[in-house]
Amino acid sequence: MKSRKTKQLSQKLWQGRFETGMDADMESLSISLHYDKKLIKEDIRGSLAQAEALTEAGVITSAECKKIQTALRVIEKDVLAGKDIFNSTDEDIHMAVERVLSERIGDAGKKLHTGRSRNDQVATDFKLYVKNCCASIIERIYALQGAVYEKACEYQTMIMSGYTHLQQAQPVYVSHYLLSFFWALERDASRFIHVSRMADELPLGSGALAGSAFPYDRKALAKKLGFGSVSQNSIDAVSHRDFALEFLSTGAILGTLLSRYAEDLIIWSSAECKYVQLGEAFTTGSSMMPQKRNPDSLELIRGKSGRLLGNFTSLFTAVKGAPLSYSRDLQEDKEPVFDTAETMDICLRVMSKVVASLVFNQDQILNKMDAAMLATDLADAIVKEGTPFREAHHISGNMIKKAEKRGCSFLDLPDSDWQSIPSGLRIKKELSFSTSIEMRNIQGGTGSRSVKQQLSKAKRLLSLHLKKKNEEKL
Ligand code: ARG
Repeated sequence: MKSRKTKQLSQKLWQGRFETGMDADMESLSISLHYDKKLIKEDIRGSLAQAEALTEAGVITSAECKKIQTALRVIEKDVLAGKDIFNSTDEDIHMAVERVLSERIGDAGKKLHTGRSRNDQVATDFKLYVKNCCASIIERIYALQGAVYEKACEYQTMIMSGYTHLQQAQPVYVSHYLLSFFWALERDASRFIHVSRMADELPLGSGALAGSAFPYDRKALAKKLGFGSVSQNSIDAVSHRDFALEFLSTGAILGTLLSRYAEDLIIWSSAECKYVQLGEAFTTGSSMMPQKRNPDSLELIRGKSGRLLGNFTSLFTAVKGAPLSYSRDLQEDKEPVFDTAETMDICLRVMSKVVASLVFNQDQILNKMDAAMLATDLADAIVKEGTPFREAHHISGNMIKKAEKRGCSFLDLPDSDWQSIPSGLRIKKELSFSTSIEMRNIQGGTGSRSVKQQLSKAKRLLSLHLKKKNEEKL
C-alpha cells in the first residue's frame, strides 16, 4: 500500500466541510482498508449494479455507466492480481475504490456515489459476503457428514461403551455414536441456511438512513445482485447486523460441537483408552519426548471453539450500545466475521480428514468395557418378569454392590445370588453387550435395525445435498 508522505494531515473524500485533516492516531483507529479489502469482489459487484440503477434513475448516461463499469472491472482485476493501487490513507475499501475510479475516469467516477451512502453500501457488500460464506461452510459441513457416514458404515456393528458423565453407561455401536455427529451437523447446516436467508434482503437504496432520493427499481436490483427481497425500512437496513450476529453465533455453536467430538476422540486415543487411532498426518511429535504422538489436530479444533465464541461475543457487545441508525461501532462487524469464516473452514476441512483417518480397535474397547453396563438390562429383564421398575432397579443395584464388595463382575456372582431374583439364572445367561444393544431397536436407538434406518436416511440426505449442489451449479 502506498503511503502518502505529506506534511499535512491526510485529506479525505468527505473533506469538504473540514478545515484540517485527520490526526494520525485517529486515522489508525479509523482505517479499515487493511482488512475490508477482502470485500473487493462484493464492493465491485454492488457498484456495477449501482451504476445501472443510476442510469435507470437518469443520473448518469448509458455511456457513463459503461465507462464506470469497465473501470470497476479493471480495478477488481488489479486488486486481485495484487497490484498496489490503494493508498495507506484510503479509509476503507469503498473509499479506496471510489478514489481510484475517480482518478482513472474523472467525472463519471465521481457520480457513482449519488444517492448511495457507505452505510447501505457496506451493508450490501457484507450481506453478499456472508451469503457466500454460508454456502461454502454448508458445503464443508456436508463433506464432514459424508466422512462421518462412511466411518459409521465401516464400523456398523463394532461395540463400544456409551458414556454419560464420562462414566461407562450402556453399550452402543460405534456407528450409533458416529451418527450422533451426523445428525448434529445436519442441524448446523440448517442453521447456516437460515443465516443465509437472514442476509437475503437488499439494503442498497437505503442511502445513509432515509432512502435514496434518486429512485430506481430496487426489486430488479436485488435480483441482479442475487438477493431474494429488498429491505422494507431504510433505517433498519443500515442499522442491523442481525445476520452477522447469527452467522457468528451459528459459528460458535458449530465450534462447540466440533470441540466436544474432538474431546471424546482425544480421550479415546489416549494410552489409557486406546480405543481409536488417528491418522499420523493429524498428529505431531514432541520436541523433547521422542515417543510422543499427540492429537494436535483435535486439540487445535477444540481450542478454536474459544475463538469462535469470542468472535460472537465481541460483535454482540459492540452492537449492543450502538444508537440507530448507523454508528461507526458497526465497522467492528468485519474482523470477527472474517475470522469465524476462516476458522470454521479450516476446522471443518481438518475434522473431515481426521474422521476419515480413524481406526477403532474392538479388542481394546472390549477389554475396557465393564459388565456393570448391563445393570439396566438386568433391571429391564426383572421388569419383564412382573416387578415394578423402581424395585427392579434396586435389585439390580444390589447385585452391583455385592459384586463390588467381592471385587468381581456382577455376572460372576454365585448362583445363589442370581437365584434370589425371579428367573435370575435364565436372565444372567441372556445378558450380553450385543443383546443389550439389540434390545434397543426403537427408532433412534442403538440397535442394528435402528442404525440401518439412520444410515439409509443419512445416505438419502447426502444425495439430496449433492443434488442441490449440482442444481445450484447449473
Ligand atoms: N467502513 C465503514 C464500515 O465498515 C463503512 C461505513 C462508514 N459510514 C460512515 N458513515 N462513516 O462500517
